[in-house]
Amino acid sequence: MNRRAVVTAGTGGIGLETAKGLAQRGFAVTVVGRNSERGAAAVQEIAAVATGGAPRFVAADLASLGQVRELAERLADEGPLGVLVNNVGAMFADRQRTVDGIEASFAVNHLSPYLLTELLLDRLRADAPSRIVNVSSAAIKSAKRTFDTVEPPGGYYGFHWYGRAKLANLAYTVHLAERLQGSGVAVFAADPGGAATDMTDGTMTSPKIVSPPLRLLWPLVRRAFARGTSGPASMAARSSLFAATDASLDGRTGLLIGSEAKPVRLFRGADDPRSIENVLRFSRELAPLHGPHHP
Ligand SMILES: NC(=O)c1ccc[n+]([C@@H]2O[C@H](COP(=O)([O-])OP(=O)(O)OC[C@H]3O[C@@H](n4cnc5c(N)ncnc54)[C@H](OP(=O)(O)O)[C@@H]3O)[C@@H](O)[C@H]2O)c1
Repeated sequence: MNRRAVVTAGTGGIGLETAKGLAQRGFAVTVVGRNSERGAAAVQEIAAVATGGAPRFVAADLASLGQVRELAERLADEGPLGVLVNNVGAMFADRQRTVDGIEASFAVNHLSPYLLTELLLDRLRADAPSRIVNVSSAAIKSAKRTFDTVEPPGGYYGFHWYGRAKLANLAYTVHLAERLQGSGVAVFAADPGGAATDMTDGTMTSPKIVSPPLRLLWPLVRRAFARGTSGPASMAARSSLFAATDASLDGRTGLLIGSEAKPVRLFRGADDPRSIENVLRFSRELAPLHGPHHP
């Protein structure tokens, strides 16, 4: 496998630990984030453990589809690529729209990694054997599993909408693995379990993020969230690292790697053909591969 890797949202949290783990295993890692200072600090931290090529930082706001397109062009021009870890993810306490006017949970957790992956596929195919890792979440278990519309019916609850966007991305992962059978490009999802990071510290302390029935049980729910996300990001990075590099996965594809760093059953609904079809339709409509400035 070519020893160049990209980790999105790789300058902090689980992504930074994933990038460090890949660098320790000899990969030249490019990390993506919005903040250049954070990027420079991450590069130093990664370089300190690297055993292969030098790490790099590329700035991009992955909530913007235009910036995802520009990023894909830059990454494709950088040379061969062995591993793409789509680690970006975000939970929003309040309903938000991106610069593209798309509901932010769906945009950041699904459309952005979808678009980056599709735009890098030629590169990954040419450089096969290669691997794509989409970072998932057990929040899927409490998500609405209907994809008749882009935004689910009912009120906005950040945790559930986040889970549904992750389910959309997992359905896409299942589809892509099937589509790329025999190409040498393997596709995995990785569930990190939980870790104390900016994301969990920032949003998982507000009862607003869960539906009214769960709000009634908020003290219990909050305690469960706190317990589930108390571990270090380095532990949570194990599933992505396993998916990206472990030799036992050679020749395999389409698996979900659980938080114990071994293959587990897919979350319910991820291989539902109707959901997959709807997710693909929305993805193609909302995130066309050629944006307005790239006719
Ligand atoms: N933490 C958990 O308990 C948990 C549980 C299950 C799944 N996950 C999933 O694991 C992945 C990593 O989670 P995490 O908790 O490590 O998240 P995090 O703490 O929010 O990650 C921080 C990193 O994300 C970057 N980032 C955030 N928004 C970005 C954007 N719009 N564009 C580019 N970079 C962005 C940050 O850099 P800048 O600030 O410089 O942009 C930084 O590098 C996500 O997919 C998440 O959904 C996490």
